[in-house]
Amino acid sequence: MKESKSAQYHSKISKDYDVMFQDKYWDIHTAVESSKLNKYLPKQKSLILDAGGGTGNFSIECAKKGHEVVLTDISSGMLEEAKKKIKKLGLEEKITILNQDIINMNDLKSNHFDFVVSLGDPVSYCQKEEDAIKELARVAKSGSFVFITGDSFFGRMFKLITDMNYKELENLEKSSKIQNQFDFIEHDFKVEELKNLFEKYNLQVIEVFGLLSFINKIVKEKLEKILSNEKNFKIIKELELKFCNEPSIIGTAGHLGIIGKKK
Ligand SMILES: C[S@@+](CC[C@H](N)C(=O)[O-])C[C@H]1O[C@@H](n2cnc3c(N)ncnc32)[C@H](O)[C@@H]1O
Repeated sequence: MKESKSAQYHSKISKDYDVMFQDKYWDIHTAVESSKLNKYLPKQKSLILDAGGGTGNFSIECAKKGHEVVLTDISSGMLEEAKKKIKKLGLEEKITILNQDIINMNDLKSNHFDFVVSLGDPVSYCQKEEDAIKELARVAKSGSFVFITGDSFFGRMFKLITDMNYKELENLEKSSKIQNQFDFIEHDFKVEELKNLFEKYNLQVIEVFGLLSFINKIVKEKLEKILSNEKNFKIIKELELKFCNEPSIIGTAGHLGIIGKKK
């Protein structure tokens, strides 16, 4: 079967994916995301779903901690890279890999997982964001956490205004969807929309956070210069960590994270 445009794009970049996010901006992004993941990841050995898990970085981290993981994705290339890494680390027993669309995870039982994550925007990329959230909620056990990150409406608006991209600005305002720089349609979330979708599918909202709320508004060249200074990097990282839950600013972050507890 022909892969979707998003899956094709991810298969094309799969071999480079793990080095594409190695710069100071993404170091801070990872620091904020990891601080939240560490807070909610079960301490006891658990069954974890990493939906849209790509090259398997989070799955591998969990397996190393002794958890059992199911890693799903729709890009054959991304899963191929994950398979190679998992084999090299001898973690095949701990991680099950499935080529599965997040909007319809037929092979997965309801009320089954102790922790469900979908990191790095699969919910924005899947074309049916509501179905994806419904599915993630369905497979989570009652009392467990569901943790997702997705693209942000107002974060995107800042970028489109900077680029003077009026066509996509109109699309964004009309539908919350744009054709992104990778040539596939993505859905950009507002905080209230995400919260309402979580509540609709039986997930009590525990917290919402922004990734990142300050440095996503600085143009690339200037930002690189600022972050190349170790003192600036430290100060900015601390500010992003400190204010990542601040309601006045998080809606304008580049990405949004949300954690819900299945009722
Ligand atoms: C930016 S990558 C993030 C990968 C990984 N979660 C991470 O944080 O490194 C987005 C991933 O979403 C996957 N994806 C896109 N649409 C999907 C869908 N409908 N179902 C499952 N995965 C999807 C892509 O193939 C890609 O691996």
